[in-house]
Amino acid sequence: MLINDERGLIFVSPQAYADQANWHAVAAELRRDAPVLRVEAEGYTPFYALTRHADVFEVSRRSDIFFNTRNSVLGPDANFEFIHSLGIDPKTLIHMDGTEHRDHRHVTNDWFKPAAVKKRQGDIDAIADEFVDKLADLGGACDFAQDIAVPYTLRVIMSIFGVPREDERTMLELTQGIFGAADPEYLGDFSDPLEFLTATIGRFDEYFDALTADRRAHPTDDLATVIANGEIDGCPMERHARLWYYIIVATAGHDTTSYALSGGMEALLRRPDQLAALAADPSLATNAAEEMIRWTSPVRAFLRYAQEDTEVDGVPIAAGERVLLSYPSANRDDAVFVDPMHFDITRPDADKLISFGLGVHYCLGSQFARREVRTMLPKLLARVRTIELAAEPEWAEANFVGGVKHLPVRYTLR
Ligand code: HEM
Repeated sequence: MLINDERGLIFVSPQAYADQANWHAVAAELRRDAPVLRVEAEGYTPFYALTRHADVFEVSRRSDIFFNTRNSVLGPDANFEFIHSLGIDPKTLIHMDGTEHRDHRHVTNDWFKPAAVKKRQGDIDAIADEFVDKLADLGGACDFAQDIAVPYTLRVIMSIFGVPREDERTMLELTQGIFGAADPEYLGDFSDPLEFLTATIGRFDEYFDALTADRRAHPTDDLATVIANGEIDGCPMERHARLWYYIIVATAGHDTTSYALSGGMEALLRRPDQLAALAADPSLATNAAEEMIRWTSPVRAFLRYAQEDTEVDGVPIAAGERVLLSYPSANRDDAVFVDPMHFDITRPDADKLISFGLGVHYCLGSQFARREVRTMLPKLLARVRTIELAAEPEWAEANFVGGVKHLPVRYTLR
């Protein structure tokens, strides 16, 4: 790929994210030397990559000037042109601005408020217990990412969503089709990632149309009912926006959290002293979860579009130009975190993490994600006597949402 500055490849190339040591070394150099890097890569409209915490923070806050509208997820222009030509452009909360965004977010906002999420703690506990029990069936060795983290986080979100267990496998395939479209492991019979993506969106469409009809006819107390019957300005939500509402909740809700858990576990297993400290003192789990979510930064980036001529960190950004918010880089910025390259479940500044973004688009599900991680940790460590890496982990090749996708572990139980 032709590129004006090779360092910009770390934001573009899905493979670059799979080599975390190199990725973070390059990002550290950029934070120091070129924190607002203009990236011109073949096939991509140029963008400015923001790597400092202060700049990611500031642009996220300035939602009056920096809009999400257009393509807020980085991808080759040809992909978006293709999707646009088929009339299946994404229209999630993440793709909206201003009052349209506010009104659509309002439809589910109450569901995600801390008090409402707290009421689900009993369900999260029960699901976590189920997956800790599963360790016994797995017989002392498993892929912690695929056997525990993925199905556990999937089941939690599906339980609040209201999708029955027998459909979880379909939902998983659909999510991986959207987020992992560039990863050869998920392509199945498809040779072209774009065709795969289009087919995936078609399958989501069918599934959620049926769900909408069902929840309109038989409303329950689940989130699907809220979306199916959601109104904007007193009228039913428009079909396309409704479909994407389901998609965003179904997809954003578990891949992200499972990567936080699998990558967080990897970090913990490489530091037996911290593993032992957490096992001895479960009250560390809350901070440990924050640190895992900082450390893993499962969402790699979002884009914002300048609505007027402006500047970021002294670099002029013209109206219409776009900036990329690099969460993993911002989360390793030593202007904010003491010794940021060090994983530390007791770090006092873990709560400065910017993994969930900031401002009007701040992650709707952050309360769920945090609870899921901090619920699993003490339960798991109470059950295992020993747990260690059994082989090198494998990282997803993805430049939007990604992390440790295979984590082979060996363990003994109490
Ligand atoms: C560790 C796990 C997670 C991470 C790292 C994460 C990260 C993010 C980020 C970076 C954003 C964009 C924020 C911005 O633009 O300022 C976002 C938005 C969003 N997230 Fe999450 N997320 C996680 C878990 C979840 C969960 C569990 C759910 C749902 C149950 C969820 C649902 C959403 C939704 C609906 C939005 C769009 C909000 C809007 O645009 O108004 N996320 N998330």
